[in-house]
Amino acid sequence: MTSSPAPNPAYGELTSRGAATNIAWHHSTVTRAARQHQRGHRSAILWFTGLSGSGKSTLANAVNSALFEQGLACYVLDGDNVRHGLCQDLGFSDADRVENIRRIGEVAKLFVDAGVVVLTAFVSPFKADRDRARQLVSEGDFIEIHCAADLAVCEERDTKGLYAKARAGQIREFTGISSPYEAPEHPELMVNTGSKNLEESVIQVLAYLESQGIIPQPD
Ligand code: ADX
Repeated sequence: MTSSPAPNPAYGELTSRGAATNIAWHHSTVTRAARQHQRGHRSAILWFTGLSGSGKSTLANAVNSALFEQGLACYVLDGDNVRHGLCQDLGFSDADRVENIRRIGEVAKLFVDAGVVVLTAFVSPFKADRDRARQLVSEGDFIEIHCAADLAVCEERDTKGLYAKARAGQIREFTGISSPYEAPEHPELMVNTGSKNLEESVIQVLAYLESQGIIPQPD
């Protein structure tokens, strides 16, 4: 008679998820709480959303620099950059954008578990996808920041020359021109990146993070 080995308490039940079968969750020995305690600040997702050219990456990077200067653990996940690697198999169809944001949500969740303030800068045009990312983490861990520059402003800036190409029909399914952008209805924060300068925008974001106890008040 063969007896099955005693279950290892570090592992959960065997489950199936998507294409993966017979997988078990391994509970990590260093917890998020322990990491946050060691670092002296909370982790969270700062989810920047807005049209291409609305200033998401610029603002996320500037906030990231300010947090880094304060000695906080922080990291930017940027749409254009992530599409060079993790998401290089994805284009801009609705289905590919859904998958793009799903992956980023999952990666951002890992950063939260790692005790890091993660700043994501993706157009993330669909409300349902942003809400799905929000639901991956606990209440208060997901801060949606709408970079609310109008289409006219973004198009006028046209920092990458993409709006001109989209208007000329050289780029299909371009957000704001030939693909929809669903603006957040109740974001934690709306930054008018069309009219505010970068310094004012950074101050607005940092003030919010301080008010929520996510980052410490500066000395
Ligand atoms: S998302 O819609 O899936 O969230 P993501 O933020 O990763 O988009 O990538 C957007 C960036 O890709 C834009 O800032 C722009 O530089 C570039 N881009 C290229 N084609 C498109 C397109 N069809 N729609 C929007 N952005 C595009």
